[in-house]
Order: sequence, then C-alpha cells, then structure tokens
Amino acid sequence: MVNIAVFASGRGSNFQTIYHKTVDGYLPAKIAALISDNGSAGAIEFAREQRIPVFVAPPGDFPSPEVFGGELLRILKLQAVEFIVLAGYLKKIPANVVDAFPNRILNIHPALLPSFGGKGMFGMRVHQAVFDAGVKISGVTVHLVNNEYDAGPVVLQRAVDIRDCHSPEEIARKVLAQEHRAFPEALKLLLENEYRVEGRRVIIRKIKHDPH
Ligand code: GRF
Repeated sequence: MVNIAVFASGRGSNFQTIYHKTVDGYLPAKIAALISDNGSAGAIEFAREQRIPVFVAPPGDFPSPEVFGGELLRILKLQAVEFIVLAGYLKKIPANVVDAFPNRILNIHPALLPSFGGKGMFGMRVHQAVFDAGVKISGVTVHLVNNEYDAGPVVLQRAVDIRDCHSPEEIARKVLAQEHRAFPEALKLLLENEYRVEGRRVIIRKIKHDPH
C-alpha cells in the first residue's frame, strides 16, 4: 500500500474517482490526505464524508512559496505520504515540494500536451482554446510534475474525438469522462511498476505481479 496525498482546488470528480479505485482494490494505495488551497472546494466535503484527513492551506496565507512549501512538507510528513496526485489543483507546487518528491507527483491536464497548456491554461480556458482552434481531437494528458507548468514527462495520453462537440462545455464533458479512466490507469501503472525518467520520457518497466 502506498500512502498518497490528493491535492484538489475544486469540485473533485477526479479525486472521487481515485478514492473509489483505492477502495475497490484497483489501486494499491490509501489516500492519507486531501490538501486544498480552497476551503469551499467540493472535494473537501467528499473527503470529510469518507473520513479522509483534510488540510486547507491557501498559499496567500504564507509569506513566500518556500514557507508555503514548508507547511505542505510538514503535512506530507505527518501523514507519511509517499506519492502526490494533483486532481484539479490550481496552484503552483513550490519547488521545495517538487524536489522532495522527485518524479512522484502526478498531474492531469484536460488536453493533449504540449498543446493547450502552460501558465494560465486551466479548466474551461483549456477547452475554450481547443474549441477556438477548431481542432478535431482533444484529450487527456497525465504527466509527472517538474518546476515548469504542464511540461513534466508524460505518463499516459488518451485522445478524444471532438468532431461532434458544438461548445467548449461539450468538449469538457467528453474529456472529463476520459480523465476518469486515464488518471487511475496512469497512477496504477506507476504504483505497480518500476519507472525512470530519461530527459522528458517516462520509461516503465513492467513487473509481473503474483496475485497471492
Ligand atoms: C479537470 O478537468 C482536470 O483535468 C483539471 O481540472 C479539472 C478538475 O476537475 N486539471 P475535478 O475537480 O476533478 O472534477
């Protein structure tokens, strides 16, 4: 069992999906903390219902990213967290946290990176940009986190045909359904196998699991 922390700023549908996949045994993980920057995030309510420890830490309450990161590291140590999952977390992860969890922070982005990513590209802004560009395929990217926005090594991508979508909202709905499949799949891949990062490539070495 790997102790994971989920960071979420909003509704938390990806968080809920991951939680259910830990409970049904698909993921060899336990959610040891839900960390949010936003005290009214829907994710918090769900975490409380499931008795998952909740920590609210808005970066603006701290004098610098380093001090904010120090507080996150304190929480992560307290909860014996080994792996971090960013499920709709809108704030930048401070460098001291990224350094303390090398290649052990996973993020989901609702488009096919490296297109439609970078600073300020989150939520509906991504789907609006995809819609405006008139592209016919969007998708989901699950990637490891480094110190640049949306530029970490890609673990898994899933394409979504959006030819039948007539609005950014329709694209968002269609992509979200695939996020809920891709995120647990990518997390399972990393938690159950050995992997390393070479440049921007994630190399996974599959390990055969004895079911007993
Ligand atoms: C998802 O589209 C995710 O890709 C993005 O933010 C959204 C979060 O949705 N990073 P939810 O809070 O998991 O429902």
